[in-house]
Amino acid sequence: MDYRGLLEAAEIAARATTGQGQVADYIPALAAADPEAFGMAVATVDGELFGVGDWESPFSIQSVSKLFSLLLALSHGGDGLWRGVGREPSGNPFNSLVQLETEHGIPRNPFINAGALVVTDRLQSLTGDASGAVREFLRREAGNPLLDTDPVVAESEAEHGHRNAALAHFIASHGNLENPVEDVLRHYYAHCAIAASCRDLVLAGSVLARYGVRADGSRMMSRSEAKRVNAVLVTCGTYDAAGEFAFRVGLPGKSGVGGGILAILPGRAAVCAWGPRLDQAGNSVAAVAALDAMTTLSGCSIF
Ligand code: DON
Repeated sequence: MDYRGLLEAAEIAARATTGQGQVADYIPALAAADPEAFGMAVATVDGELFGVGDWESPFSIQSVSKLFSLLLALSHGGDGLWRGVGREPSGNPFNSLVQLETEHGIPRNPFINAGALVVTDRLQSLTGDASGAVREFLRREAGNPLLDTDPVVAESEAEHGHRNAALAHFIASHGNLENPVEDVLRHYYAHCAIAASCRDLVLAGSVLARYGVRADGSRMMSRSEAKRVNAVLVTCGTYDAAGEFAFRVGLPGKSGVGGGILAILPGRAAVCAWGPRLDQAGNSVAAVAALDAMTTLSGCSIF
């Protein structure tokens, strides 16, 4: 596949969305991002790496980190995780509280904030340092020892985190947290506030493109578990816009309010696109347009 040509075409499609959408500002430190930045990268399962635009510029990975905390919790703890979190789309915004009450503190899926808090909690129990585990995994897979949490963003999240705190306390009231709420929130903010580039994220995400095998050839999880994570990405990775994302892009993908989307072409490659302006659902307008162009032009999606 001509990934270089596809990336160039995708960048043109992304730049055509200039001015559409809004940079996230409910976490004030995110509002400082350059709204017109755009980058995109591809890492193939054979170790080839391609990039266009600002593909090596770090940005706040936010909810893209939820994919890595899930991979790590599954690889350390196995299937038990699924007792505390479901795997159905929520049909609600990523930070919604409404379903938790009727569903007894069991979040619908691991990618909405409520579910990610449960995953962070289990990863904390399994490793003693949930955010450190995510950071070390990303550093190792990306070969980037400088990759780190941005403390200004983490602090800003904590200061404006009433909704996440409410979710965590509600889940705890149902007995679905093993660790103190304060610890869970601190580790959750710390992994969301990791700054990484499209380059870093495709290298780390390619473990899913290789069906659970890390870059060094070692197995992180079974092929079946990797398939399951890809399935949850398709149905829940872009929140209540997962249907639209499947319709336009047709790949498993995880978005974050920093404007990044990491998508997987199983058996072939990991692709990451980044542009800070978001649509109503919290997905990057430019990144969706870029991924849409790439899969439409190549005819290569999971469908
Ligand atoms: O907890 C939050 O609201 C953020 N740390 C992450 C939200 C996010 O990225 C949702 N994704 N589109």
